[in-house]
Amino acid sequence: MKILYVGSEALPFISTGGLADVLGSLPAAVRRATEETADVRVVIPMFPKIKDSIDDSFELVSEGEVNLSWRRLYVGIWKTVRDGVTIYFVDNEYYFNRPSLYGSFDDGERFVFFGKAVMYLMMHSGFIPDIVHANDWQSAPAVLYLKRKLCHIDAYRDIKVLFTIHNIEYQGVYDMSILKDVFDLDGEDIPVVEYNGALNLLKGAITVADMVSTVSERYSNEILTEYYSHGLHHVLRASADKLTGITNGIDVDYYNPETDPDIRTNYTAQKSTGKNDDKAELREICGLDGDPKAPLCVMVSRLAGHKGFDLVRRVMYDLLEQTNITFAILGTGEAEYEDFFRKAAADYPGRVAVKLEYNKALSKKFYAGGDLFLMPSKSEPCGLSQMIASRYGTVPIVRETGGLYDTIKPYNEFTGEGNGFSFTNYNAHDMMAVIKYAIELYNRKQKWTALRRRVMKVDFSWTASAEKYVKLYESMLDK
Ligand code: GLC
Repeated sequence: MKILYVGSEALPFISTGGLADVLGSLPAAVRRATEETADVRVVIPMFPKIKDSIDDSFELVSEGEVNLSWRRLYVGIWKTVRDGVTIYFVDNEYYFNRPSLYGSFDDGERFVFFGKAVMYLMMHSGFIPDIVHANDWQSAPAVLYLKRKLCHIDAYRDIKVLFTIHNIEYQGVYDMSILKDVFDLDGEDIPVVEYNGALNLLKGAITVADMVSTVSERYSNEILTEYYSHGLHHVLRASADKLTGITNGIDVDYYNPETDPDIRTNYTAQKSTGKNDDKAELREICGLDGDPKAPLCVMVSRLAGHKGFDLVRRVMYDLLEQTNITFAILGTGEAEYEDFFRKAAADYPGRVAVKLEYNKALSKKFYAGGDLFLMPSKSEPCGLSQMIASRYGTVPIVRETGGLYDTIKPYNEFTGEGNGFSFTNYNAHDMMAVIKYAIELYNRKQKWTALRRRVMKVDFSWTASAEKYVKLYESMLDK
């Protein structure tokens, strides 16, 4: 089986979020799940950070031009091999040599170019996949060009497309007027890509893909409803027969407290004294100089509305007044939340700390140094942080949505079952009650140690999910 993964970011090369984790670990896991018989490759854009780190393992495989409407544009294809997986990089300085991955006025055009470059790759590299597994709106143009154009050529006719939605909030919506001139699609494509009077790339990819998946089972049901769909529930309901959900795993070698070089002291579920050192280190880094025995609640997250920061903002001061909790927050995002946390840190020095940055190595210190991990998302397609935190024995508190629901089951102190804490409704006081309950348990050391061990032992590796993907790919090829 030959599989080409298409997306905009992949670890260890470039990362702004969970998609990079997935594209950095799923392909190799799928290869392992097929006993290394599958030929697994990945293609992402060549962003400047990648270009700057090109070493001898990289090779320029092809250079040429692609047509985008009336423009002829340079394309370079580079490759390197990691873990048996070939990674291709699409080079074009005009489109990708920018300080940020996303957020340019012409993002649509940039990823339309990327889509064209993926077609170029399939035509010039000699690699014609059986499955194209495309991810999020940035790879929707590739899906559209493949299904609407390239598939008319015999050699590409049978390629099956799995399109995975990592977050339905981001859809790639543009004005219809640029359909032909910028996106190089024509009138016949209008019914495929048009939605609510606009050009919607995500809708187009959902419509033409052979199968559509989301990154947890729960989320695949949630997005059929208006509350979660960001307007696309009608489209998804029409495609419900090809919609499925497979919960992500995490790279359990990269996120391993026993060997992690980014934390001060390594530890395991059985011998976890090292975790105390890591808590001490995190407290030093953050200037948290209050009671070292107080529960330390960490958050590692984009500071975006859907991550549940409204709830945190609503009750954080009450929690600080009513309990001995301390907070450490890592992430960047919307100004209103950055401002809120800056103010909270100033109001509660030594008890609230915030690091406004995206920093992978530092995030490990947060995962390892915390006692509680708070993730009260309004919606969460899968969420990786709750699984990472678990692996480091930082007990998750989550809202029961999407992948959080699928991966964290509420602790039952009478049966000992469960691997975290959760609440159902998107309500700040429900969340507060659960946090208080968690603190109560944190103070009952025996129970807490048992819970922490249990949490650390849950298997969040890719093994089971990779097998599900392989089955899904096989079923698509059988059709
Ligand atoms: C997106 C989602 C997140 C998911 C990740 C990887 O970032 O918001 O929930 O875990 O993609 O699939």
